[in-house]
Amino acid sequence: MGNLVSISDSSIFIGVDQPPTLHAPEIEAGVGCDFDSYLLVPDNTLDDRIAAAKARLGNDVVILGHHYQRDEVIKFADFRGDSLKLSFQASQAEGRYIVFCGVHFMAESADILRREHQTVILPDLNAGCSMADMADIGQVEACWHELSSLLDVHKVVPVTYMNSTAAIKAFTGENRGSICTSSNAAAVMNWAFEGGEKVLFLPDEHLGRNTGYRMGIPLDQMIVWDPYQDFGGNTPEAIRNARIILWKGYCSVHQRFTPQQVERVRGQHPRIRVIVHPECRFEVAEAADQIGSTEGIIKAIQASPRGTEWAVGTEIHLVNRLGKELKNHKVISLDPSVCVCTTMFRITPQHLLWALENLGEGNVVNRISVDERTRHHARVALDRMLSLR
Ligand code: 13P
Ligand code: SF4
Repeated sequence: MGNLVSISDSSIFIGVDQPPTLHAPEIEAGVGCDFDSYLLVPDNTLDDRIAAAKARLGNDVVILGHHYQRDEVIKFADFRGDSLKLSFQASQAEGRYIVFCGVHFMAESADILRREHQTVILPDLNAGCSMADMADIGQVEACWHELSSLLDVHKVVPVTYMNSTAAIKAFTGENRGSICTSSNAAAVMNWAFEGGEKVLFLPDEHLGRNTGYRMGIPLDQMIVWDPYQDFGGNTPEAIRNARIILWKGYCSVHQRFTPQQVERVRGQHPRIRVIVHPECRFEVAEAADQIGSTEGIIKAIQASPRGTEWAVGTEIHLVNRLGKELKNHKVISLDPSVCVCTTMFRITPQHLLWALENLGEGNVVNRISVDERTRHHARVALDRMLSLR
């Protein structure tokens, strides 16, 4: 499979704070045990126990899995998808319990979209997203305040990437804005410009720039707002002239891809097509043949003629899965070193088992619960996006 990067989920150990799986076959964790005891569940029994716990819960549980989840977890998902597809699934799910195998902002969004009787669970509360953490509500409110000292903010529409906290989503709803994902950012941005003169795009600078540029907005009409500087590090004139104000946030996984990697892979594989996630930097998105959300990448490869070779610039679990599952195509990673989202990787089969077995006993562990006020305003912004689907 070409230079497909091979990592074995059960053996790689990423980060200093992520404990390796322990092997102690003589000790078995049981319901009611805290999570640590589940680290002792023998690997060879995990699948059967997860399947049994899921079967016992029946229609009471629905498991949602993001494409970046490890194989050992995603195989138990009732629905797989990108952020957009999963948020729609969350809004339609029937089960009493929604177990979200993804990261914190995704589970929060599910809690905002869920129905009254439903409960959302994130199997490991440490599964966060560094990009979402780059826009703090205090910083965003300070930005809005500074903008309002220069402009009529009624003409500025906040467009917030799904990868954001519930508080930022609520700010967006309260200020007549909308959420977007990497699948519908252009549609949401078009909607925003129908009603406003400027867009404040939060919190991913790259998705905002890549989307704006493809809509015909010149680079010099997009400025970057650095929350650690007065007026985001911009002059009043630059702010007045800008059409898109890009929050200075980024994804540490996607920012690793470089234009040199695109050049290198083309040198090594002259017929290869390069597709990257729009969280990649502008130069990478421009050098690539195509950009796409995780779902968009999957569809583009599936729709391509048999034998097409692809270099993909996104998280490695998805790239490896495509390499394994799409046998008629050759799929390799754009980055020869492993590009893992370490927070997505925090959801282990042990966490899933722990959450499911506890649910089976009526114990809800790791519930994600957004307060009612935040939920109300964030829902307005999410519903706006879903109505544009
Ligand atoms: P998608 O919306 O494409 O699933 O992306 C989510 C994400 O976090 C990518 O890093
Ligand atoms: Fe967040 Fe990047 Fe991981 Fe996506 S890949 S969840 S943006 S850290």
